[in-house]
Amino acid sequence: MKLLCCIYILLLNFQLSYVLVKAYTPIPHFTHRATLIGNKLYILGGDTSKTSIFSFTPTKDDFFCLDVSAAFNTTNITWTDFSNFAGTPIQRGAAVSAGGPNKDIIFLVGGAFENSSYGIPLVYTFDTVKNVWNTPIIKGTQPTRRDFIYSIIDVTGKMYIFGGSYNTGTGNSTGTTGNYENRMDILDTIELTWSIGSQLQAPTPRDGYSATLLPNGIIAYIGGYGVNGPTNLKEIYLYDTKNNAWETMITVGTIPDARAHHSSVLGLNNDRIIIYGGFYSTTSPAVAHDFSVLDIRNKPYQWFTPNISGTIPPTPTAHTANVVGRYMIVTYGFIYSQKYINPDVYFLDIGNDSEYEWVTSFDPKLSLTPSPNPSPNPSLIQNGSSISIGTMIGAIIGTFIGGILLTIFGLMIYRWYKRKHPRAIPTHGS
Ligand SMILES: *[C@@H]1O[C@H](CO)[C@@H](O)[C@H](O)[C@H]1NC(C)=O
Ligand SMILES: *[C@@H]1O[C@H](CO)[C@@H](O)[C@H](O)[C@H]1NC(C)=O
Ligand SMILES: *[C@@H]1O[C@H](CO)[C@@H](O)[C@H](O)[C@H]1NC(C)=O
Ligand SMILES: *[C@@H]1O[C@H](CO)[C@@H](O)[C@H](O)[C@H]1NC(C)=O
Ligand SMILES: *[C@@H]1O[C@H](CO)[C@@H](O)[C@H](O)[C@H]1NC(C)=O
Ligand SMILES: *[C@@H]1O[C@H](CO)[C@@H](O)[C@H](O)[C@H]1NC(C)=O
Repeated sequence: MKLLCCIYILLLNFQLSYVLVKAYTPIPHFTHRATLIGNKLYILGGDTSKTSIFSFTPTKDDFFCLDVSAAFNTTNITWTDFSNFAGTPIQRGAAVSAGGPNKDIIFLVGGAFENSSYGIPLVYTFDTVKNVWNTPIIKGTQPTRRDFIYSIIDVTGKMYIFGGSYNTGTGNSTGTTGNYENRMDILDTIELTWSIGSQLQAPTPRDGYSATLLPNGIIAYIGGYGVNGPTNLKEIYLYDTKNNAWETMITVGTIPDARAHHSSVLGLNNDRIIIYGGFYSTTSPAVAHDFSVLDIRNKPYQWFTPNISGTIPPTPTAHTANVVGRYMIVTYGFIYSQKYINPDVYFLDIGNDSEYEWVTSFDPKLSLTPSPNPSPNPSLIQNGSSISIGTMIGAIIGTFIGGILLTIFGLMIYRWYKRKHPRAIPTHGS
C-alpha cells in the first residue's frame, strides 16, 4: 500500500508540475511572417522541413502570438497558441500586414499552400479584436497568387505586394525555370479594392527580397532571388507610394553580398535600414556581412558594418525581424550552414547606434522611441489574457479531473489488492 501511495503521489505530482511548467511551445518555423499589432507579435504560417527552404512542409501549428507588453528573457518566453481558431490558412511565404481602418486586422495575401492552391481564397483576414478568420470579397481585378512575398502597408491602409514566384504551391508551375514576377499589386485594406502599381523601371522579377517603409512614404526593396540567382545589394529599388514611381539607386560603402530571404527593419532614429541574415544559394549559402546597415540620410545611401557585441547567433534565413521598443526581435529561420531550423528567438538591442548588442532579455519599459500608441489598446490585451486564462482554467480542470480519475484508479487497485491479500501487512520488510 505504501508503494501504491508513493506511486499515486508521484503521478499526481508529476501531473501537477507538468501543468505548471508546461507552457505552449510552438514548432520552430521558417518562411513564416511576424506582424506586430498593439502589444502582440502574431506569427503566421511557414515551413518546418528540416532539409531545404524549397521543400514545403506546412503544419497545423502555424498561428501563435507573443505578448510583448511584459518583460521576459530567452528562457521564459510564453506563447499563446492561436492555431485552433477555425479557418487558419496553412501556408508559407504569404504577404502579411496589419490593415483595416484601425490597423488591427491581419491581411494575408497569396503564399503557397500544401496541395497547390486551386479554389483557395487569395486573401484571408484575421480580426484581432474578435479573433475570427474571414475571406473578404475584394473589388477589382484579382492578381495572381505568388510565393515568398513581403508586403508593406502605408499610413492610408494600402498594402503593397511586389514580385514573388510561381510554383506548385501557388498552383502555377507551367513555366520552365524561374517563374518570377515583378508586378506591384496594391490592396486597399479599408476600401477592399485591388489596383496595380507602376511597372515602369520596376526591379527584375524576384522573390525573397526585403521591403522597408521609410518615413517619407518610400518603400526600399533590397535583394531577393531571380532567374540569375541572388540579386546584388549594390542596386536597391525605391518605390514612392505617393506618386507610384520606381527609382533605382546605386548604393555606396561596404556592399554586402547578394542574398535572398534576409530581413530588414528601420532603425530607431528612422535614419538607417538594418538588414540581417539570408543566403546566397543552396550550394553556397554563406553571405559576407550577414549583418549590415544602410545609412539613408543622404543619397546615395551608404552601406556599413555596425559594431555588434554579445553572443552572435548563427545566421538565419527566412526568419522574421520586427522592431519592438529598443529591440529587433528575430524569430526562428533556417540555419543553412548546418541545415536545421533555428529553435530560438533572438533579441538585438538596437538602442545604441554606435554598438548593437545581442541580449537574452527583453524589457518593453526600456523603450527609447515614443510608442505610436502610447496607451495600449485595452481590448487587445483583454482578448489575449482571456485566452490564456481560458487555457489555464482548462489545465486546472484537466488536472482536477485527472486527479479524481487517479484517486478512483488508486482506490480500485487498493480494493483489488486487499481482496487478493486480505491479511497482507504492507511493511517495508515484507
Ligand atoms: C521572465 O524573466 C524576466 C527577467 O528575469 C522577468 O522580469 C519576468 O517577470 C519573467 N516573466 C515570466 C512570465 O516569468
Ligand atoms: C530568465 O528568467 C527566469 C525567470 O524569471 C530566471 O530564473 C532566469 O535566471 C533568467 N535568465 C536570464 C538569463 O536572465
Ligand atoms: C494534401 O494532400 C494529402 C494527400 O492527399 C492529404 O493527406 C493532406 O491532408 C492534404 N492537405 C490539405 C491541406 O488539404
Ligand atoms: C503563371 O505563371 C506565369 C509565369 O510562369 C505567369 O506569367 C502567369 O501570370 C501565372 N498565372 C497565374 C494565374 O498565376
Ligand atoms: C564602433 O565603435 C567605435 C568605438 O566605440 C566607434 O568609434 C565607431 O564609430 C563605431 N562604429 C560604428 C560603425 O558605429
Ligand atoms: C553606446 O555604445 C558606445 C560604444 O560601445 C559606448 O561608448 C557608449 O557609452 C554607449 N552609449 C550609451 C548611452 O550606452
